[in-house]
Amino acid sequence: MKLAILSRNGKLYSTRRLVEAARTAGHSVRVLDPLRCYMRIGDDGFAMRYKGRAIDGYGAVIPRIGASITRYGCAVLRQFELMGSHTPNPSAAIARARDKLGCHQLLAAQRIGLPATVFGDNPDDTADLLALLGPPPHVVKLNEGSQGAGVLLTEKLSASRGVVEALRGLYANFLVQEFVAEAEGADLRCFVVGEQVVAAMQRQAPVGDFRSNLHRGGTATAIDTTPEERAVAVRAAQAVGLGVAGVDLIRSHRGPLVLEVNASPGLEGIEEATGVDIAGKIIQLAVNGAEMSGSERPVRPRHRRLLNRSARLDLTRV
Ligand SMILES: Nc1ncnc2c1ncn2[C@@H]1O[C@H](COP(=O)(O)OP(=O)(O)OP(=O)(O)O)[C@@H](O)[C@H]1O
Ligand SMILES: [Mg+2]
Repeated sequence: MKLAILSRNGKLYSTRRLVEAARTAGHSVRVLDPLRCYMRIGDDGFAMRYKGRAIDGYGAVIPRIGASITRYGCAVLRQFELMGSHTPNPSAAIARARDKLGCHQLLAAQRIGLPATVFGDNPDDTADLLALLGPPPHVVKLNEGSQGAGVLLTEKLSASRGVVEALRGLYANFLVQEFVAEAEGADLRCFVVGEQVVAAMQRQAPVGDFRSNLHRGGTATAIDTTPEERAVAVRAAQAVGLGVAGVDLIRSHRGPLVLEVNASPGLEGIEEATGVDIAGKIIQLAVNGAEMSGSERPVRPRHRRLLNRSARLDLTRV
């Protein structure tokens, strides 16, 4: 099958591994920089070009779209979907995953456990907002933050109030959560492919920190997850609509709590820690999905007439 990996950088570990796994399984594969894909949208059909040439005919497209290019990356992926390519992570699901508050609401609506979370807009409501959460300690998270930067622990109510007021002054977007002390600085990254957790690792915060991010000095080890943890991770990925997801959980007295559903989880740390060929499983999922949806012949009959018309404009070749 003809596969494409949407990635800004072919040299990244995850991209290289996906290319390698696709070739090992006998597929043809090309890495496309989403920012070099440009498109024509017309009521006569959809066309995509790359560095001056028409591209189409991809049975499956595997997106690796970073947070900084979510909007454009999703538009490109949507165009591939409209041209009949299958993707394990549809553009709508990636956009959903990138909206942290929206994701929390979606997961909670499905009764998936997560730390109690509050957010608000007006400074006059700060005291009541924090009362709604319960007593400190609290975890304050900047929405733009990642890799642990922008995640703070406030142990006293006065500190929570001070941090919230300071962030408001900076017009920052943030949310405040209950602190799950019993997680003891550890979180679990469950790598979901299809309906399974194919690999899981525990990340442990360094002494003196509660954030387990590897970028903050955390350490990763393979871990056995419980059936409940696996079920929660798969349900969370499915709620967001992702076939491939990194679901971060913390262990609490009331069971596993979801911190985040990542739509473009890195392969390096977790393949190293667990020895699982995750890239191979992602390729298999993408190819199976394409075969089931019939998109290994990606130009759908109902589009064919439209595409033929636009071929006159030399924008689409079918
Ligand atoms: N409510 C909480 N209670 C206890 N520990 C938490 C809580 N929220 C986060 N942590 C710890 O802090 C770390 C960083 O938090 P989080 O993963 O939410 O932010 P991030 O890694 O900066 O952003 P993202 O994962 O969304 O890119 C987590 O991996 C976890 O170890
Ligand atoms: Mg995180």
